[in-house]
Order: sequence, then C-alpha cells, then structure tokens
Amino acid sequence: MRTATDTRRRDILVHTEAGVATLTFNRPDKKNSITAAMYTALADALAQAEADAAVRVLLLQGSATVFSAGNDIGDFIDNPPAEKDAPVFRFLRALATFSKPLVAAVCGPAVGIGTTLLFHCDLVYAGDNAAFSLPFVNLGLCPEAGSSLLAPQAFGHHRAAEALLLGEPFFAEAALEVGLVNRVVPPTEANAVAQAKARKLAAKPPASLTETKRLLKAHQTPQVLARIEEEAEVFARLLKAPAAREAFTAFIEKRRPDFSAT
Ligand code: COA
Repeated sequence: MRTATDTRRRDILVHTEAGVATLTFNRPDKKNSITAAMYTALADALAQAEADAAVRVLLLQGSATVFSAGNDIGDFIDNPPAEKDAPVFRFLRALATFSKPLVAAVCGPAVGIGTTLLFHCDLVYAGDNAAFSLPFVNLGLCPEAGSSLLAPQAFGHHRAAEALLLGEPFFAEAALEVGLVNRVVPPTEANAVAQAKARKLAAKPPASLTETKRLLKAHQTPQVLARIEEEAEVFARLLKAPAAREAFTAFIEKRRPDFSAT
C-alpha cells in the first residue's frame, strides 16, 4: 500500500490512506454547501480514485455537525448548471458509475444532493443528529441524481412523495427504518465508524468487491443514468423559471418565498 497522501483543495479535502480515499466537505461557514468548483473537485477526485489501483474504497464525509446543505444557492444563480457536462452532472455520473465501494458518514443537515448522493453509496453511517431533506419543490426545482427513481424504490411511493413533494425533512431513525442508512451512531463517532468499515472493505479482494458491486447494480445502472439526464433537463429549465428565482432570492434575503405570482 502506498504512503498516505494529502491533497488540499479549498473546500474539499482528499486524503488517501490504507486503500481508502476520504473526501471531506470542508466549507463549514456555508454549511458545506457545494459550488461548481467543489463539484469539479469531487468529480476529479472520483476519477482519480477510480483510476488509482491503490484506492480500493471511497468515503464521503462532512463534520460531526454538518454533512452538506446541498447546492450553493448563490452559485445556482451565478453558475446555473445548464450543460450536460456541467460540474454537478460530471460528479453525478462519476458517482453513479463508480466501480469501487462507496461509503458515507452523515451528520447534521444533508440537504438536496447531500441526501440524493447517498442513494449511490453502498454503506451509509449516520450520526443521530442527521437530518435528511429533499426540498426541490420548495425551491421551484425537481429531483436530481436519479432520486425520482431511487427514492420511491427505496421508500415506497408515499414516503418518497412526503420527502419529494412536501419537502419535509426526515431524521436518522426514519432513514434507518427505510434502509437509507446502515447504522445510527453518536455524531462524534460517525466518521470513525465509516472509516473503519471502509478499511475493512479495502482489505478484501478488490476484484471480488467491484464485481459484486457491479452485479448488485448492473440491472439498473442504465436506467439511473437515463433518469439523471432526464431530471437534468427539467432541472435546468425550472432553474430559469420565476418560482426558482423567487425561492433563491428569498433564501438570500432571509425571508419566506411567495409563490403566489409564479
Ligand atoms: N447555499 C448557500 N449558502 C448556504 C446554503 C446553501 N445551500 N446553506 C447555508 N448557507 C449559508 C447561509 O446563507 C449562512 O450564510 P451567512 O452566515 O453568510 O448568512 C450560513 O451558510 C449558515 O447557514 P444558516 O442557515 O444560518 O445555518 P443553520 O444551521 O441555521 O441551518 C441549514 C442550516 C442547512 C438547515 C440551512 O442553512 C438551509 O436550509 N440551507 C439551505 C438548504 C437548501 O435549500 N439547499 C439547496 C438544496 S437543492
């Protein structure tokens, strides 16, 4: 195994050790919300981890208090992801097709893509403070990351509708009950528990891991990729519409949105 390496990017930390590439959201002042530059860093890190034989498992984590507040809302206004090769879509495709095991540790808010990326992970460990939410409709948007397909598969239609139409948050125990997370642990232990599981996986024969993951997911990877594309087209259209503009402006002005004119 090669020696540990550290690559510092501004808001995404990448650390590889013992066969595990750990990507850490590191933008605490903005609740780890994700900018286009961060999606690029994430997509690049996934591509490097995919190509590097020394990396056998990838772990995504935040801190003990926040996983991610989702897409940076200011960035939605400044850099709307319109093209298919926009950084967010590069990241989503890399995530959905990543051949090695993906592990996540989630504490505190996991909003939007902070929750939808978990559908693409193989093992998820949550702090008991984890709060998952999919507020796309509340923002005048629609689901992304294939979540319009994967959420009803995981939760059944009615719970998926509660999460995706009402946009109501759900918490660690509910996520455990529906199978979105494997285990709920104290928030200060989540990253370490996930790291230990990732290292346990990294010690296993890599070809068996990647083949088993492929067999688990092969039947629906094409549908997931097609749904990501379909959602992206609708998302890009809604992003320019009055409801989303009102929602983003309201967030920035720290007021409730008024959709009566949309
Ligand atoms: N985009 C940009 N900035 C964000 C952000 C986001 N998605 N989420 C939080 N921030 C910023 C806030 O504007 C605030 O910045 P400021 O200190 O300059 O005013 C800072 O992060 C702290 O956020 P705050 O709302 O005060 O923290 P909180 O602990 O009260 O609430 C959240 C945390 C995550 C529940 C709340 O910030 C939130 O709901 N964020 C928006 C989530 C969202 O709609 N994401 C888009 C999904 S598609």
